[in-house]
Amino acid sequence: MGATVLVGSQWGDEGKGKIVDLISKEYDVVARYQGGANAGHTVEIGDKKYVLHLIPSGILREKVVCVIGNGVVIDPTALLEEIDLLKKNNIDVDGRLFISHNAHLIMPYHKLLDSISESGDVKIGTTGRGIGPCYIDKYGRKGIRIVDLLDRVELEKKIRTNLKEKNEFLQKIHGHEGLDVEAIVKEYLEFDQIIDKYIKDAPAYLNRALDEGKSVLLEGAQGTFLDIDHGTYPFVTSSNPTSGGACTGSGIAPTRIDSVIGIVKAYTTRVGNGPFPTELLDEDGNKLREFGAEFGATTGRPRRCGWFDAYLLSYSRMINGITSVALTKLDVLSNFKQIKVCVAYEINGKRLKSFPTNVNQLNSVTPVYETLDGWNTDISNCESYDDLPAKTLDYLDFISRHSGIKINIISVGPKRKQTFFVDQ
Ligand code: GDP
Ligand code: IMO
Ligand code: MG
Repeated sequence: MGATVLVGSQWGDEGKGKIVDLISKEYDVVARYQGGANAGHTVEIGDKKYVLHLIPSGILREKVVCVIGNGVVIDPTALLEEIDLLKKNNIDVDGRLFISHNAHLIMPYHKLLDSISESGDVKIGTTGRGIGPCYIDKYGRKGIRIVDLLDRVELEKKIRTNLKEKNEFLQKIHGHEGLDVEAIVKEYLEFDQIIDKYIKDAPAYLNRALDEGKSVLLEGAQGTFLDIDHGTYPFVTSSNPTSGGACTGSGIAPTRIDSVIGIVKAYTTRVGNGPFPTELLDEDGNKLREFGAEFGATTGRPRRCGWFDAYLLSYSRMINGITSVALTKLDVLSNFKQIKVCVAYEINGKRLKSFPTNVNQLNSVTPVYETLDGWNTDISNCESYDDLPAKTLDYLDFISRHSGIKINIISVGPKRKQTFFVDQ
């Protein structure tokens, strides 16, 4: 068996955490491959709600081994808080959580620089977790990696060199106070002892697992249209959430991936700034936010809400090579008499032939909608595809045809049991 990649197909928060938790009972290993604590993956089990930021959502299955891959940027404080929180809930991670030695560390200056860059003219609406500045240092070859924690002398040298440069930048360019070098050196030297036991050569570990016939699930964070290459640049995150990123961010080769699951919300949401053609700034938008409890799992910000965009999704299907889909939050649409679906974009009355990746163009498109009847019945207790009302089945059929996707899993609520598989 090869590896499976699970990606967010829209702008993040599609319900990846819920689906990873659900299907990870069939997997031996779950690994994150990009992003950092900007992610907020919610898993509800019974009356408990867990929001995971860095640790893969497979951690709540006691037999699953979890790996934080080399493509992830790790804030050690956030990681230790998350481990602690899990331990307090009797979920022991020792012996089944590993961190790639090549993952980069988020430093205090990354978080500060993130907030400073958001005070400029172009506001992305970041999560403020230091993600962009950390990836800038990674690609600028100035980053500090998990493996650096193992050599205290070198670590101290690297932190001092970087801080000299960052403090000069903070003081001279931004008139900001410099950061306390000694305090940061002390703080990071201490992480070494705590994090040591989790460090692994993750690519070797993951490939060995596959050699031994184990199954590996690669859990994406964020979503396709937040991808640094394929998203609505510059209103994106600084990594590759799309399926291609799963290979570089984990060390698993493309030839070892055999399926890509796209997680798709039954409507669309976005947090932060940037184009959103089907956004609803009216009562329907407020209803989606209210019924879908659309508030960020990491920052608590209200999410922007809009109708399902089949045109956007067909682009996502192409970029990710999606082989199957888990559709989430279908229950939220139960409250609408009529439901719209975007099937194409127009500019000046002319239909576009391909998805526009330029932000200015995307900002000026007019979505072409088809209107479907709603089903007006609570579906959150449905236990199978056959339980769904005929009008719900029409909706599913319509969005599948227009996006070119095959829906295999349907989610009608946040809990594990509010999910069923579709027989193909
Ligand atoms: P992720 O970042 O993709 O893991 O998604 P988030 O956890 O940020 O946001 C998804 C939210 O929707 C969470 O609060 C989930 O508990 C919730 N959720 C997931 N699936 C469903 C569903 O089918 N119906 C409803 N009503 N809520 C869901
Ligand atoms: P999960 O994994 C939704 C958004 C931010 C901002 C942009 C850049 O829970 O789906 P960053 O802090 O990454 O530099 O912010 O990306 N963003 C997300 N939106 N879900 C996420 O993660 C997100 N992670 C980042 O709101 O617009
Ligand atoms: Mg989220």
